[in-house]
Amino acid sequence: MKLIVFLHSKGSGNFLKEHGLEPLMNLDSGKVKDIFGLDTVICMEMEDAEPASSRVLLDTLNLDPAMKRLGGVPRKGKTIILPSMDGPGTVIVVGLGKREKVDIEALRSSLSTAIKAVSPSSKNVGIVLPEIFPAEAEAMEVVYTYEITTYSFDEFKAEKKTSPDLMRILSDREIKQGIEKGRIMGEATNLTRYLADLPSSIGTPTFFEKTLRENGKIAVTALGRDDFIKLGMGGLEGVSRGAHEPARLLIAEYGDRELPAIMIVGKGITFDSGGISIKPSDGMQEMKFDKCGAAAVLGAMKAITELGPKAHVVGLMPLTENMPGGGSYKPGEILRHYNGVTSEVISTDAEGRLVLADALAFGIDKYRPVSVIDLATLTGACVVALGNNIAGVMGNNKDLQEKIIEASRNTWEKLWPLPLDDDFREQIRSDVADIKNTGGRPGGAETAGAFLSNFVGEVPWVHLDIAGTAWRGQKTSKKDYLGPGATGFGTRLLVEFVMENSG
Ligand code: BES
Ligand code: MN
Ligand code: ZN
Repeated sequence: MKLIVFLHSKGSGNFLKEHGLEPLMNLDSGKVKDIFGLDTVICMEMEDAEPASSRVLLDTLNLDPAMKRLGGVPRKGKTIILPSMDGPGTVIVVGLGKREKVDIEALRSSLSTAIKAVSPSSKNVGIVLPEIFPAEAEAMEVVYTYEITTYSFDEFKAEKKTSPDLMRILSDREIKQGIEKGRIMGEATNLTRYLADLPSSIGTPTFFEKTLRENGKIAVTALGRDDFIKLGMGGLEGVSRGAHEPARLLIAEYGDRELPAIMIVGKGITFDSGGISIKPSDGMQEMKFDKCGAAAVLGAMKAITELGPKAHVVGLMPLTENMPGGGSYKPGEILRHYNGVTSEVISTDAEGRLVLADALAFGIDKYRPVSVIDLATLTGACVVALGNNIAGVMGNNKDLQEKIIEASRNTWEKLWPLPLDDDFREQIRSDVADIKNTGGRPGGAETAGAFLSNFVGEVPWVHLDIAGTAWRGQKTSKKDYLGPGATGFGTRLLVEFVMENSG
């Protein structure tokens, strides 16, 4: 068997160019020892089957006796580290479990455990593909897992997490496209995480605008408070009234304007104090993550421009902080939204739906999309209902909802449907306005969805409540490939959806 070595470097392949390295080399299996500079190689083993590629490596380096001594094939998610006297300094063998139980999630989580077992002094890491899934998909998943596992928000720490710049993938199949797609989706997910992890004083609406404008393939429109007033966006105007940081509605447009648009909208509350209906101080620091929806839209737009599908995608990010103060909007106010619908403010802490209302109505009016997806850290009720590993999905169109659930099947971004029937719309009827912004505690995720449904008309729309899944605090989610902080939930999902539903 011939093992081809594919090179992958962190950061858009510049490393490869700078070091005069070709993106792939051909090697006969006998020469695996000579793969220059590799100091660690990761390979995968199963309890009842063995990838031929792993066998080549273990045979060439004569590692069976050592592995046997250490108890043989490791259990699922466990690693053994074998020193090799020739060739790479270290081989990390990771267990995938039983052959028929191995799925993409098992690959992601076992591989990330192995990546974390790599010594910090390792500069060049090789990964042998297990050849269980189609080649391109497997390569994609491996590179994606590598990227998200090695992410760390350490800009403000003296001690940085180190990870190898260069990774080599050992396979005998053509996987260049998979590598590229994995890199793009991993980097986009990490951009989402970075924006979300930033404290609110840095990750401001203007910072989002600056980041978006760095992308040359995106047409950017940025609306501010004057525009909110002029255009009748009462929700955005109200919530941003007490903000110190200038608010923005950012609109990012990609692709061919002749094609029907896919619209993605993300809640971007850069800090949610609750406003006048102020939140308890315990845990309030986590409300810097209330911008995770907008961050996912920005990350997804980056990946989409790099993958370049034949599509028309419009991303909207309503961005503002929600603050208390003498100039803030207040409970009891009535706001008139872009589409004329009025809402009574019961709680200034139910601010996300107010800004999304205008973004949805405006985007639909301006861009006439054929499908709309919004993501928002919208309700604590959704966290109570579904926990920290599954996001709620609601909408007005079964077909679109099924498509987005389909896109989630191969990623770790799990979705579960919540009902949106008329009872929930009843629950938010107001005595003084068309609707009110809370319906009390019962069915809190659904009444929030019902509120949004007033701003999308008949256009196929799904709403993802990512309040439980967008970051990991002292929470009950544990994913081997995600460290603390923002998860980037929704980024890959949006990209996969766009790729699957375009030319
Ligand atoms: N951003 C919060 C929702 C949230 C809470 C997300 C906890 C993640 C963790 C949202 O703006 C909010 O405050 N929602 C209120 C709505 C209520 C006032 C109707 C909530 O869920 O308590
Ligand atoms: Mn709130
Ligand atoms: Zn909020």
